[in-house]
Amino acid sequence: MQPAGNHHQIIDSEEARIAQAAADAAANLTAEQIDASKFYIKQRYERYTEENHAVWRELYDRRWTVLEQQASNVFLRGIRTLNMTRERVPKLDGEGGINTFLKPLTGWQSRPVPGYLPQKAFFACLSRREFPTTITVRPREQMDYLPEPDIFHDVFGHVPLHADPVFADFLQTYGRAALLCNDEEHIKRLGRLFWFTVEFGLIREDSRLKIYGSGLISSHAESDYALNSPKPDRRPFDLERVCETDFEIDHFQPIYYVLESFEQLRDAMNEYATRVLGISKAKTLAA
Ligand SMILES: [Fe+2]
Repeated sequence: MQPAGNHHQIIDSEEARIAQAAADAAANLTAEQIDASKFYIKQRYERYTEENHAVWRELYDRRWTVLEQQASNVFLRGIRTLNMTRERVPKLDGEGGINTFLKPLTGWQSRPVPGYLPQKAFFACLSRREFPTTITVRPREQMDYLPEPDIFHDVFGHVPLHADPVFADFLQTYGRAALLCNDEEHIKRLGRLFWFTVEFGLIREDSRLKIYGSGLISSHAESDYALNSPKPDRRPFDLERVCETDFEIDHFQPIYYVLESFEQLRDAMNEYATRVLGISKAKTLAA
């Protein structure tokens, strides 16, 4: 549970407490017993202040000016398709909400959560094609660096890729595999896979390096470093190698993994789920 600060005024504390308790309790349940719908809260849209919208606008404008050069075409297509706009914090549900555009494309939905979800609860959401989404807006003092996610990181940074059918399948398979695997070592390996792809992944498109991980999409400073600095080690994506690579937080990454396509990621994940985790494709993709 995040501490209540002035940027958390949009969350109802009692509703959040109940949802967070349900998510915490999921750690002791089997995959079949978990009901992810209990982890979600409402996005009380009317509680966003003009300051929240202004912060969103600033973040959006600053990133957008360079993303057309820096970001994967798949990300750019997603952000346009979802009708995300610079003017206001995005509404998830209801008329004009991003879910109304997203659902017909891939079946994914962005669902508001009260704060940080424990691993098992998080995996359960992904396995249902639901993305647990932070709905708070960062305070202006933390424009450049925020240790925890906010709506800009989660919705601007993550959700556009969910509009792509290939990435959408990958992420659900990832969630199912992680949910069904009860082996701490494999969970750790899958955590590294998430970090080096969903959060900090690079992809080669038209012979140029592009960013697609949300940690890069939503970070002005690190995206430039990831693409242009001579310092980091940019390695070709290899799932086994990624799963063996420790990651570091709190500073720019010393290592990035570069995909050749999202099909490469989807296929490697399917193969890993089947071969290593023993999760059949039918079971993996069962709704
Ligand atoms: Fe993230």
